[in-house]
Amino acid sequence: MADEPLILGIETSCDETGVGIVRGHTLLADALASSVEEHARFGGVVPEVASRAHLEAIVPTMDRALTEAGVTLADIDAIAVTSGPGLAGALLVGVAAAKGYALAAEKPVYGVNHLAAHVAVDTLEHGPLPEPAIALLVSGGHSSLLLVDDLARGVTPLGATIDDAAGEAFDKVARLLGLPFPGGPPIDREARAGDAAAIAFPRGLTAAKDLAAHRYDFSFSGLKTAVARWVEARQRAGEPVPVADVSASFQEAVCDVLTSKALAACRAQGIETLVIGGGVAANSRLRAMAEQRAEKYGIQVRVPRPKLCTDNGAMVAALGSHLVAAGVAPSRLDLPADSALPLTTVSV
Ligand code: KG4
Ligand code: ZN
Repeated sequence: MADEPLILGIETSCDETGVGIVRGHTLLADALASSVEEHARFGGVVPEVASRAHLEAIVPTMDRALTEAGVTLADIDAIAVTSGPGLAGALLVGVAAAKGYALAAEKPVYGVNHLAAHVAVDTLEHGPLPEPAIALLVSGGHSSLLLVDDLARGVTPLGATIDDAAGEAFDKVARLLGLPFPGGPPIDREARAGDAAAIAFPRGLTAAKDLAAHRYDFSFSGLKTAVARWVEARQRAGEPVPVADVSASFQEAVCDVLTSKALAACRAQGIETLVIGGGVAANSRLRAMAEQRAEKYGIQVRVPRPKLCTDNGAMVAALGSHLVAAGVAPSRLDLPADSALPLTTVSV
């Protein structure tokens, strides 16, 4: 609707420079510049390389977003920016840019939480999020299960990974299978030709003795080690590694744990909506398994399209739009870039 505020969002917490523009729940522009290829040969994101790439990309990406939306900075009602969590130097570029644009154009600025933005982005595809909802956030840096009572003011963490993040597990397993970085997409692709039941990999923190203390927590480090041992044994025996079967069996183990814990949280709390966000939410098996299992319990699964699951500026704009609509006050112009911003802080 034309009378809804026009919100611009800036994302620079990791390796994607994103600028998105939304009006209400309508996405008008989603410009992205990625430094992922510069990190590929290191097998992980190199913070200094990411910061420099953001510095080079931020102004052109901003210009592209404004052109794509057919608006000027003067038309924007508020600017939202990822304040944290993320890489300190990378966050700083986005936060400094947001402050500069806000000051120059006399616009309010909202420093927001990257993880809450991964939840909010779903509203661009599926409309307002029913509250309360359960959110499963799975990315390269985080794996959390949250109770979302009021996305504008706070979320309640139910559980999180106690070691590796889900995306990190995909990246590490891909590396030992000789697949490129980031590992999620190639494993997803390989797995389509593999047998998910070929190898029985462990499901972390699902045994009765672990559930007492870690009902909604995750652990992927044991799974990663199990895959490494299995692959090494094959190599020692001089046998070829069946990459498709290992990929499918590993992916099945991750998706099994993620969906069973997320749906257990929904059922225990009597909640009918599960929203899944973060880069790993782009995984085709996770999406299919969540929907299939949720149907039995009458739980609705909301997962945005893959391009909105991985880091982007639109998600930050979507959360900014939600905050403005909820009447939340903007941040001060000295808002911080906080690499360790707690999950419970939606805006600073
Ligand atoms: O949300 P995101 O773009 O950045 C972070 O905030 O970390 O997530 C990146 C992570 C990477 O670990 C990547 O391997 C994973 O998301 N990922 C996937 C898929 N696409 C991206 N994991 C599994 N399947 C995919 N299709
Ligand atoms: Zn992310």
